[in-house]
Amino acid sequence: MSRADLVVVANRLPVDRVEGPDGEPTWRRSPGGLVTALEQVMQNLDGAWVGWGGKADLEVEPFEFDGNLLVPVTLTPDDLRDYYEGFSNGTIWPLYHDVIAAPEFKRSWWDSYVTVNRRFAEAAADVVAEGGFVWVQDYQLQLVPQMMRELRPDVTIGYFHHIPFPAYALFAQLPWRTQVLQGLLGADVIGFQRVADAGNFQRSIRRLLKYPTKGDTVQVPEGDGASRLSIAKHYPISIDANHFIELARRPDIIARAQAIRDQIGSQKLMLGVDRLDYTKGIRHRLKSYGELLADGKIKGHEATLVQIASPSRPGVEAYQDLRDEIEKTVARINGDYSTVENTAIRYLHQGYPREEMVALYLAADVMLVTALRDGMNLVAKEYVAVRGDNTGVLVLSEFAGAADELGSALLVNPHDIEAMKETMMRAVAMPAPEQARRMKTMRRKVIDNDVEKWGRTFLDDLRELRDRRRETR
Ligand code: G6P
Repeated sequence: MSRADLVVVANRLPVDRVEGPDGEPTWRRSPGGLVTALEQVMQNLDGAWVGWGGKADLEVEPFEFDGNLLVPVTLTPDDLRDYYEGFSNGTIWPLYHDVIAAPEFKRSWWDSYVTVNRRFAEAAADVVAEGGFVWVQDYQLQLVPQMMRELRPDVTIGYFHHIPFPAYALFAQLPWRTQVLQGLLGADVIGFQRVADAGNFQRSIRRLLKYPTKGDTVQVPEGDGASRLSIAKHYPISIDANHFIELARRPDIIARAQAIRDQIGSQKLMLGVDRLDYTKGIRHRLKSYGELLADGKIKGHEATLVQIASPSRPGVEAYQDLRDEIEKTVARINGDYSTVENTAIRYLHQGYPREEMVALYLAADVMLVTALRDGMNLVAKEYVAVRGDNTGVLVLSEFAGAADELGSALLVNPHDIEAMKETMMRAVAMPAPEQARRMKTMRRKVIDNDVEKWGRTFLDDLRELRDRRRETR
């Protein structure tokens, strides 16, 4: 097998397995944010991607796809239950999102997490070239950096954490907290979304491991009084802004946006686009909107809320409960406030291709991103990128990472229902000059800090560390 200079390790491969016209399984690039983000970074390098193929018990040999080597890791149904639905999405996800849902601490889940992390690390160790780079992605694989370092001390290791890193008082609840910190510290560069995430991580390191930190660096002891430096800092992820701008100029997509508008009528269109996840604040959004209808502040024919909630993690109980609750709320609001001509909330429990998303963004007067906690939220950046005529209003939660860069949005605390209602009303009524002023500032940010820059900045820091280490050896 050929060896790769850069190996990305992520829970999922950047492709989905689909049936071709003749019933034969083939692979198609998947539409997710992480894939989009790394697509560009990988393009100019001799790269490989280690990840799960998306179905239980799938055993597939490594294969070429779009110039990169894809290395599938097999997960059994038990692995999916304990490592993926269990420890990753039943323990870490709720704990790191400020316990919006209660995390469960199960020893059998942890054991599976260790076993599966080792499987990913071994697959990456087999494929990375001598002196190459391994870049580990996200919370499902926090132990891989340290395992990689043990298996392949010659490689330089990066880790990027796409979700929040919690405050010390929350992180300290994790029974395996020191193992997780040690796992992450195996990386030379540990990237976070926000300054606050990197700060929380460093605080946990100081309190639990007593390692010294200074600025963006952590001094990691290596025995015999020796130590090495790891970088732990923020690298806010972004989107391929130009790609979205190009899509927004395509005549067929503009026509589709117009068709959506015509369908909705002359009213204001408010849009929410989320994975169906309890972190996204969909309930708070529906509650606020429902109250505005109940108060008569918004009349049914004046505005419509389109809520896309793409199916997510259906095997996890908290997600099943959330779906039931949201669907009940939507049905109630529609029952009370829809008319024969007009539907108060158009709720779609489906995923859509990027083209349809861009048409929806173009059609929407107001974009609602009201997450209770979110690592970044790329939907906010996508909406801003496509609004080439500087119209449209972004309502953005203070608790989404994107709020650090998009301070010109209408920022809101989604827990404060009165504030949500006022902000929605302000968004609907915002005069065009104010829309333009805010949108222009945000578009500059998104265009100047695109995903290509994100990847380049992270990899430059990795390269610099490798070079520095080579000099001191
Ligand atoms: C978030 C996480 C990703 C994850 C994605 C979809 O964005 O940060 O790591 O891949 O959600 O979730 P799923 O569990 O379907 O992979």
